[in-house]
Amino acid sequence: MINIADRIKSVEEYYFSKKLQEVRSLDSHDFPIINLGIGSPDLAPHASVIQALNDSAAQDDVHAYQSYRGTAELRKAIADYYTRYFHVELNSDREILPLVGSKEGIMHITQAFVNPGEKVLVPNPGYPTYAAVSNLAQAKIGYYDLKEENNWQIDIEAIEKMELDQVKLFWLNSPHMPTGVQYSIAVLQKLVVLAKQHEFLIVNDNPYSMILNTDYQSILSIDGASEVAIELNSLSKSHNMAGWRIGWCAGKQEFVDAILKVKSNMDSGMFKPMQLAATEALNLGNDWFESLNKIYHKRRKLAEQILLKLGCSFSNNQQGLFLWAKLPAGHTSSEELVDQLLYGYKVFLSPGFIFGTQGQGYIRISLCANENQFKTALDRLQNYQS
Ligand SMILES: Cc1ncc(COP(=O)(O)O)c(C=O)c1O
Repeated sequence: MINIADRIKSVEEYYFSKKLQEVRSLDSHDFPIINLGIGSPDLAPHASVIQALNDSAAQDDVHAYQSYRGTAELRKAIADYYTRYFHVELNSDREILPLVGSKEGIMHITQAFVNPGEKVLVPNPGYPTYAAVSNLAQAKIGYYDLKEENNWQIDIEAIEKMELDQVKLFWLNSPHMPTGVQYSIAVLQKLVVLAKQHEFLIVNDNPYSMILNTDYQSILSIDGASEVAIELNSLSKSHNMAGWRIGWCAGKQEFVDAILKVKSNMDSGMFKPMQLAATEALNLGNDWFESLNKIYHKRRKLAEQILLKLGCSFSNNQQGLFLWAKLPAGHTSSEELVDQLLYGYKVFLSPGFIFGTQGQGYIRISLCANENQFKTALDRLQNYQS
């Protein structure tokens, strides 16, 4: 009898990994499922990005193992991107580490900074990976609640009342998934002060800042933040490159070096043609984001109509790839409504409970489907009674 490790018992298989099998089993040619559940961009990267990949993949000298730190050109393009959009100056040799997607960074950072038994604060609702990875690292998890009555902003007073001296790592995600809120500068400043006082590291996970948002923010632009904060970012959503797995972390050298120690023992660099293509993507002009956001804007209007048809209420001021909405009166279980829509109308949305207890009573609709799919979903729901 071979037993699995105890740490595995502390985590569940990722919700979508199981649920999408069920969703696929209901799919049929005549009545296809409309999947508005997951945030996986359905559009292609810019043509020049594909071209860069194609051109370089045909060369002989690009197929070897690559540096653990990524190419100098990619790091420089990331630094330029941070200057251009976030007004943050980074040393491209020392303060940037390309990653195989930002998700792996969540594990690397946890391994680099958190000892078993140390405390990690994660948002509720929030991206489930923060807690799952903390569990795998045998950390203690504390949740900070985000609430609709507080416009989903971080309640700094509530945080101040926590036993912060025990906290090692604070997961921040701004713009926040699933609520679509971007935290105010004042909130970020107060968090930085708390992190200095209580000596914890803030990690801002920032993959959504370029989507349906023009007020681009980085935690690293806050005064004094570089002493206590790291930022994760990625091309997954901003450049339609989720499957390419290209992200990075940025922060002071000491932090980046610690993360590199973990990472260099886990992978062996990133395929060079992908790094060249990622460099091309990062060097695109602002017109890339304008055209991308035009598409998402139209989709959001249709998503709003679906939510209104369902009797849900929501804020019109959400950033990122989703709309987060409150269930109509009389509905308390997001899972029940999601299954009713899945089985009755073959439309799949995400139930809010998967993001934490504060997500119960809410649903999340993704903008990663084309306008026709949104219109078909609306047609199917014409007779829906909430
Ligand atoms: C909040 C948040 N962080 C990180 C990720 C992971 O992104 P990446 O594709 O860069 O690994 C996601 C993906 O959905 C996300 O929603």
